[in-house]
Amino acid sequence: MRRTAILSDIHSNLEALEAVLEDARQQRCTDVVCLGDVIGYGPNPRQVLRLALRTFRFCLRGNHEEGVLFEPVGFNWKAEASAWWTRDQLKSKRFPGNENQKFWAYLQHSPLYVEEDSVLYVHASPLDPTKEYIMPEACYNPEYMRAVFARIKRIAFGGHTHLPGIFLPDRPFTAQSRIHGNFPVTDGKLFVNVGSVGQPRDGDRRACYVIFDGRHIVFRRVAYNFRRTARKIKRIKRLPNALGARLALGL
Ligand SMILES: [Fe+2]
Repeated sequence: MRRTAILSDIHSNLEALEAVLEDARQQRCTDVVCLGDVIGYGPNPRQVLRLALRTFRFCLRGNHEEGVLFEPVGFNWKAEASAWWTRDQLKSKRFPGNENQKFWAYLQHSPLYVEEDSVLYVHASPLDPTKEYIMPEACYNPEYMRAVFARIKRIAFGGHTHLPGIFLPDRPFTAQSRIHGNFPVTDGKLFVNVGSVGQPRDGDRRACYVIFDGRHIVFRRVAYNFRRTARKIKRIKRLPNALGARLALGL
């Protein structure tokens, strides 16, 4: 039986990704998938992409992959600055050309969504795979949530908001911090936000990911050396310092 580690929003944070992969190994996960935003914001796009190519069964396209592949449209200034810097890192002649090509092809061929049996994997929303934010308060808009759940056969996994938790039809959002232990999968539909590995924003600075075995959903929070990541960001002039400072707060 598969025991899948579902990661999202790594954002070029090598320390967080390494800690999560080690935890997934200890948790006896059989495979690792990623819901996009592997790059952007953080200081280690090449190292993280190297690990992604080696480790992930699939890796979806997020809005930050789109921002680097095309134009960072609709980004705030910090996200935009990091997108231009990331693009230069992946295209620079200072690095081996064949590896640049490999990274670029990986990003270009990343799928917008994956559907396996009745499980949908998407970066942002079943209605708009890379951009739409399904925030926790969306649960108070029943018409909108009906449209979201109409696109879900049974279970969908997403990321993008960096706010982990579970949406059920006609129920309030349940934040990850209020879910203890295994969350059982029943016959009803579910939309699970797996949170963010490399830039959590729910006030808990630990990396977040989900383990799914077909019957249960388990959220994992993993401490990592965020100070080291923040120091690297500080040393890179073109990356706004705030991107490192926020890692300490988990906001
Ligand atoms: Fe993201």
